[in-house]
Amino acid sequence: MAATSKRLLLSDLVSSDKIDKVPSNYIRPISQRPNLRHVFHDSIPLIDLSHLYGPNRCHVVDQIGRACREYGFFQVKNHRVPESTIANMMQIARDFFKLPEEERLKIYTDDPTRTTRLSTSFNIRTEKIANWRDFLRLHCHPLQDYIHEWPTNPASFRDHVAEYCRSVRGLALQLIEAISESLGLDRNYISRQLGKHGQHMALNYYPPCPQPDLTYGLPGHTDLNLITILLQDHVPGLQVLRKGHWIAVDPVPNTFIINIGDQIQVISNNKYKSVLHRAVVNCDEERISIPTFYCPSPDAVIGPAPELVTDDEPAVYRQFTYGECYNKFWNRGLATETCLDMFLATN
Ligand code: OGA
Ligand code: NI
Repeated sequence: MAATSKRLLLSDLVSSDKIDKVPSNYIRPISQRPNLRHVFHDSIPLIDLSHLYGPNRCHVVDQIGRACREYGFFQVKNHRVPESTIANMMQIARDFFKLPEEERLKIYTDDPTRTTRLSTSFNIRTEKIANWRDFLRLHCHPLQDYIHEWPTNPASFRDHVAEYCRSVRGLALQLIEAISESLGLDRNYISRQLGKHGQHMALNYYPPCPQPDLTYGLPGHTDLNLITILLQDHVPGLQVLRKGHWIAVDPVPNTFIINIGDQIQVISNNKYKSVLHRAVVNCDEERISIPTFYCPSPDAVIGPAPELVTDDEPAVYRQFTYGECYNKFWNRGLATETCLDMFLATN
């Protein structure tokens, strides 16, 4: 009986116990279900980064600024992350989730403070309803502080993932400069606010689901970090909230999806919003997505940029350390309410 399975990981419950119904702890109340028939296919902007370092830079920066203001989400092409690096990363993720259960379970933990961990749902210590997802979470910057914790099986895991992390970090730094400029700030302003900088990633594995109308891979949430760079495979599942409607972001090969996280919302003093998004699942195919969460280091002090605070637009948030915000985020379930409410300026 699936509902009484003792398996720690969802993928093993799905593949070994051959369930044909979603177990009760994954079922959302009727009012919170995804309503998959009410989804729009209007897309988010696709921005070509090839001119970011040419004479047309300001044009690309304008496009990025507009996408941040209007959508909080955009896709990028010609981003200089090699296709082979992307293909190797996706293949290693696929291979990792195919390892035998006992091999994967060596790094399983439900402790969200661990810097390398395989787990399931979002935070099973705090949530009441589980999510249809397993994930491997890694810290990746500074690389030498964490790489020794990473899996060594598959054998090329560390090499391929490290190469991907370095390359995507280069893209993150370019985007952060462009976002800084698009706000009218010095190109290096945001980068300077991030302390030693931080970079985390997740390898998300969403198994096929017998009743995708009843549950989520991940329910609506905003990302806590600065910006997220998402790689997804060919299976749709990401949806973004726009003007009260969920729109599906269908995969485009060799592009990344970028979204503004909560820390850009704070630094921009609410000019750019960290937008709700969610992952839905489907009956037919497994889905893999690989978000890179670029973030400040825990000791970095985050607050609205002084240049963006005026008499007409006073500071919306007080200053806080990223570590403080990060701990609050992981100590509660994944919620549609932003944790930024805890850091509002008291006028
Ligand atoms: C996330 C996330 C979306 C996806 O991991 O924060 O929003 O498509 N993932 O997996
Ligand atoms: Ni997210």
